[in-house]
Amino acid sequence: MTSKKDLQIASLLAVVLFITGITCYAAFPPPAPEEPVRLMFQNAAGKVLFTHAVHSQDYDLSCLDCHHNIEDDEVYSCKECHQATGDESMPSRTDAFHAQCIGCHKEKGAGPVECNSCHAL
Ligand code: HEC
Ligand code: HEC
Ligand code: HEC
Ligand code: HEC
Repeated sequence: MTSKKDLQIASLLAVVLFITGITCYAAFPPPAPEEPVRLMFQNAAGKVLFTHAVHSQDYDLSCLDCHHNIEDDEVYSCKECHQATGDESMPSRTDAFHAQCIGCHKEKGAGPVECNSCHAL
């Protein structure tokens, strides 16, 4: 038997399910591209620990602030382009890192700028 009341309950249920659906969709955004949690750079001056996930999630930065080369949502490692030795058109790997890491820390007045506060390990 389909009374008017049954119909009202059915449409109320439909509305509730619809709202639940939207809420769940909004609560679980599509997965972001895989990013490293932290990276350890080995080098002659002393290892540098880079908290990648903390930088991208807690410091209010966008991927493009560092991955200035992104094309078609692809993220390349810096060394794809910045080789051990650079030239006028392409900074070396070390120069690229120093310019970007220290440059931003100075600009924001936050984060290490002294040699041994990065080369700490
Ligand atoms: C503060 C700078 C910074 C931010 C912000 C940042 N990254 Fe990175 N990311 C780096 C550096 C530096 C590396 C190491 C590259 C290397 O070793 O040559 C890296 C490495 C990566 C790699 C590994 C690449 C490879 O093939 O080795 C991926 C993937 C990546 N980042 C994705 C992301 C995504 C996605 C975001 C945004 C959510 C992001 N990154 C935000 C600096 C950053
Ligand atoms: C696909 C090639 C490519 C990749 C990958 C790449 N770069 Fe570059 N980068 C360049 C080129 C070309 C230049 C010089 C022209 C320019 O300034 O855009 C440059 C210039 C720079 C400069 C000089 C300042 C500036 O923006 O002009 C810095 C610093 C830098 N890159 C850092 C990085 C870091 C750090 C990464 C990795 C997170 C990275 N780059 C990845 C191609 C690349
Ligand atoms: C676009 C801006 C930006 C770039 C690029 C960047 N940082 Fe930072 N970094 C920050 C900010 C903002 C902080 C936070 C300082 C605070 O809140 O105390 C920080 C903090 C840090 C800290 C101390 C806290 C922690 O999370 O470990 C280290 C170490 C550090 N950065 C290393 C690096 C290295 C190494 C690079 C280059 C590979 C780099 N950063 C590139 C913005 C940047
Ligand atoms: C914000 C963090 C940071 C600061 C501050 C910093 N460095 Fe670095 N340094 C790096 C990173 C990241 C690399 C790149 C490591 C790699 O290529 O894997 C690097 C690379 C180097 C290298 C290259 C070693 C090799 O294997 O070729 C030398 C030398 C160096 N740094 C010396 C210094 C000196 C001297 C200072 C102070 C004037 C300094 N750094 C300040 C992060 C930093």
